[in-house]
Amino acid sequence: MTAAITLIEEASRQTLLVTPPPSGFSLAGSLQVPGDKSISHRALFLGSIAEGQTVIEGLLLGEDPGSTAACFRALGAEISPLNSQQVEVQGLGQDRLREPIDVLQAGNSGTTLRLILGVLASQPRGFFALTGDASLRSRPMARVIQPLEAMGAKIWSRRGGYAPVAVQASPLKPMHYHSPIASAQVKSCLLLAGLGIEGETTVQEPYLSRDHSERMLKAFGADVLREPECHRVTVVGPARLQGQHVVVPGDISSAAFWLVAGAITPGADLLIENVGVNPTRTGVLEVLQAMGAQVELLNPRQVTGEPVADLRVRYAPLIGCTIAGGIIPRLIDEIPILAVAAVFATGQTVIRDAAELRVKESDRLKVMARELSSLGARLEELPDGLVIQGGQESLQGATVDSHADHRVAMSLAIAALRSRGCTTILGAQAIAISYPDFVNTLRQICGVPL
Ligand code: S3P
Repeated sequence: MTAAITLIEEASRQTLLVTPPPSGFSLAGSLQVPGDKSISHRALFLGSIAEGQTVIEGLLLGEDPGSTAACFRALGAEISPLNSQQVEVQGLGQDRLREPIDVLQAGNSGTTLRLILGVLASQPRGFFALTGDASLRSRPMARVIQPLEAMGAKIWSRRGGYAPVAVQASPLKPMHYHSPIASAQVKSCLLLAGLGIEGETTVQEPYLSRDHSERMLKAFGADVLREPECHRVTVVGPARLQGQHVVVPGDISSAAFWLVAGAITPGADLLIENVGVNPTRTGVLEVLQAMGAQVELLNPRQVTGEPVADLRVRYAPLIGCTIAGGIIPRLIDEIPILAVAAVFATGQTVIRDAAELRVKESDRLKVMARELSSLGARLEELPDGLVIQGGQESLQGATVDSHADHRVAMSLAIAALRSRGCTTILGAQAIAISYPDFVNTLRQICGVPL
């Protein structure tokens, strides 16, 4: 038996069939992951509201940054065709966005919709209507609408705070907001609103969430005061941003799939080049190392204000662990793939304080519990996490579903590498949201011809 990785397309749906390489085949080689999704969004945001030209190298070509670019084009920014070499953005200046003649479409992207609400609410003029796909329309927007309203914003939404939403530009006042959740999307939305307001806008969160906005705002010339020890950041407005040259590093959330593939496959030795290792994102490395994985950071360097390294992972037996508390925001998107690692670790893994996963692109706690169980894993859902019984030699290939969630689809594809027979992943088209080349890289490391 050899590995087989087949993608079947029917209308707009894709099904991914994964039959793993035979035991004895070791995953090996070096690979690259696409540009960081969070940094790609922010480069398009800040480039569009800055003055002058921004050049972006290494932009993620996934559907999510595509949604951000489409929104800003409709608002008047000139953005060259998206590609991963070089994208040029002619910014309009913070307060000169144009009222679009139609509804803005954020697609599947929570980052696009939540961050843009901050930009639009603080415009001097204009009416803006926004919506997204079925998943995005079921995700909570009240977490940004409420603080924006407290600043004076005029926003309408469906009952309970769901998209479609509409914003009427109105004068805002600055505020000090204590966010009940550690969310980079909430923090970034309010900081972007603060750019257009006279005075200090401060966001304080229970734990530090990813800080790409703070870093990039500083690089674009905003007056940003950071107090990371008390999880607080302040922007002083009004700010005039100046276009910059941004080099986007590889996405650690995409690298996480290969890190886990390497960590659970006997004999594996993978090198993942050029990965962003911002400390607010590296929880996945710390957890894998605590589980006994051999993960090394090589050639550490700084690339436009973000730490970057090459990551080498080699197989070693894993042991279960507890993942909870302040580390959760630092690995929030990696919990589905860490659940896969836990299945093959000896002992039990407990994930707590992760209720936020219920309002991601899918209810990731429910969906991962259900789909991994279909493959024969033993795990239980908690209100805010998962309990995973490890020690599994292998899973049993079966038909599973992505529930239209890119990270669920890719996590299940990695689980399939240690399953007997063929695993069929329905809804694989979701992968294009953040990692269009995932299936080719999977083929590459499994020795399947492209
Ligand atoms: C993101 C922040 C995180 C993360 C999402 C991207 C960002 O969401 O889950 O994939 O780019 O700001 P929250 O900040 O809402 O947890």
